[in-house]
Amino acid sequence: MRKMTKIEIITRPEKLEALKEGMNKIGVTGMTVSQVLGYGLQKGHREVYRGTEYNVNLVPKVKVEIVVCEVPVESVIETAKTVCRTGNVGDGKIFVYGIDNAVRIRTGEEGDSAILDPADIHKLK
Ligand SMILES: Nc1ncnc2c1ncn2[C@@H]1O[C@H](COP(=O)(O)OP(=O)(O)OP(=O)(O)O)[C@@H](O)[C@H]1O
Ligand SMILES: [Mg+2]
Repeated sequence: MRKMTKIEIITRPEKLEALKEGMNKIGVTGMTVSQVLGYGLQKGHREVYRGTEYNVNLVPKVKVEIVVCEVPVESVIETAKTVCRTGNVGDGKIFVYGIDNAVRIRTGEEGDSAILDPADIHKLK
């Protein structure tokens, strides 16, 4: 069974369309998208002023979860960085996880077979 990795991208909602397009171009076969609320180092504010206490402010973001085995993890990360970077605070985060297993419910296939296109599997063996 080939190694599977989940890449989770949390970024600005206005980047979602370009992310979908970019990931499709590099051969990503599926994704899960959620509307989420979050904060990072600035606690959801534009700037942090030293010595000033702020309440935490939750900002709307999108969370995109992608599991790959054939498409290189580095390609997914590079695509996300290129698409999502504005250079301003709040561009987002990318988290990378190892995946133990995956199951395609319809067929019971497990592991890489659960996420690969059956037409492509023989090419990779
Ligand atoms: N430590 C964290 N754990 C979980 N989610 C996080 C964490 N940091 C950021 N996030 C998520 O990522 C979103 C975007 O974070 P953000 O880009 O503001 O991070 P940052 O560390 O403050 O970086 P920057 O300085 O570029 O703003 C947050 O709204 C939140 O959903
Ligand atoms: Mg921030």
